[in-house]
Amino acid sequence: MKKETIHPAKALSGGIELPGDKSISHRYAMLAALAEGTSELRHFAAARDCHSTLGCVKSLGADVHVDGTTVKITGRGLRGLKGSWRNLDAENSGTTIRLLSGILSGQEFTTRITGDDSLQRRPMKRVVTPLRQMGAYIRAREDNFPPLEIHGGKLRAVHYEMPMASAQVKSAVLFAGLYADGQTVVTEPAKTRDHTELALELFGARVEKRGRTVAIQSMVSGDGKGSLQAKSLDVPGDLSSAVFFIAAASLLPESNLFIGNVGLNPTRSAILDFFQGMGASVSVVNLQSTQGELVGDLSVKGAPLKGGLISGELVPLLIDELPMLAALGPFTEQGIEIRDASELRVKESDRISALVENLKRMGAKVEERPDGLRLEGRGAGTVHGAEIEPRGDHRIAMAFAVAGLAAEGETVIRDAGCAAVSYPTFFEELRRVSEGR
Ligand code: S3P
Repeated sequence: MKKETIHPAKALSGGIELPGDKSISHRYAMLAALAEGTSELRHFAAARDCHSTLGCVKSLGADVHVDGTTVKITGRGLRGLKGSWRNLDAENSGTTIRLLSGILSGQEFTTRITGDDSLQRRPMKRVVTPLRQMGAYIRAREDNFPPLEIHGGKLRAVHYEMPMASAQVKSAVLFAGLYADGQTVVTEPAKTRDHTELALELFGARVEKRGRTVAIQSMVSGDGKGSLQAKSLDVPGDLSSAVFFIAAASLLPESNLFIGNVGLNPTRSAILDFFQGMGASVSVVNLQSTQGELVGDLSVKGAPLKGGLISGELVPLLIDELPMLAALGPFTEQGIEIRDASELRVKESDRISALVENLKRMGAKVEERPDGLRLEGRGAGTVHGAEIEPRGDHRIAMAFAVAGLAAEGETVIRDAGCAAVSYPTFFEELRRVSEGR
């Protein structure tokens, strides 16, 4: 397994071009597979997860052609997908299995979908419950874990009050809603990313949004009957990948980094406000709206970070950024505290446990809690390099590479190849823009 060695750095400088947004790429690929005609998706995510989605939609009959970061998908229409005799493999991707479950619930054939060891330990009951209410027949290991066996067909429109704030659950229900017998409504307890709503509208579905409630009109029955249409779209750069560079540039005092073409959808960009609130020097330039999504460039300079508390409704808005925020905690003035985030325990790894173990290896003072952690800031002592075990989790590997730049001595990231799940060229890019101490 590939190791990466990180040396202390004094600055990040130059420019970063990010891979395409992972969340948006998944949604565009799935909708393109259900549309009529050929969609062209430019700057499609390099993330392995999104290529897992491409593999699945291909197995379901969509024609997929990948040329670098341009992906052309010829859809089969809402009723044209075909059953796959092989199991669909979502590999490491929770978004793939949960969102596709919604689409598969509308198909009149049986599909088995599974993933790697990590995915087979992740809870699926959260999507199985509403999809069963809509009329899908679903079997799961221990009624919760992959493999899922989904037999879909005609679905009932429901009003689903989500017990948890999850964009994946909301999206699964909305995708199934395309195949229901009327208007399907979802209400979320706190705001989550809205890429599914935006993408559905782009491809021609009828979506209404009011606060935390979203309604979708059936496309196979009643007066909503119709088809989704292929689109030509540009995927913005992935803000959740940019965050590792924002954090690193902030921590290293002499940094001056430019990050171009970053997706700044307001349901994702709370992380920028949080960094600014901590005292970071991050500014947005050239903000514009393209195809429903906000996009801009970021300029980041080194600045002392205060630290802070992440809890309540902020948690779902920063969920993928929490590993990075935790790993920079020991370098902040007051430390970082994360509460109400037990969801972190069922991500690609138990992220609370992985963070605590590796932060301790670096000499940080950290307290583990069931729903989060508390990290002492700079005053608690020097943080040193260590051998990091990312547990196969891309965001843990990248977060500790950043911590390694600011620590004393060398840091080794074991199994660093796992970063490819969201950012295959992360370590090359990090090396390219860092200047040694
Ligand atoms: C995602 C939603 C989030 C996030 C994941 C991507 C999405 O998961 O953590 O990386 O694209 O919808 P939850 O919906 O489980 O919060």
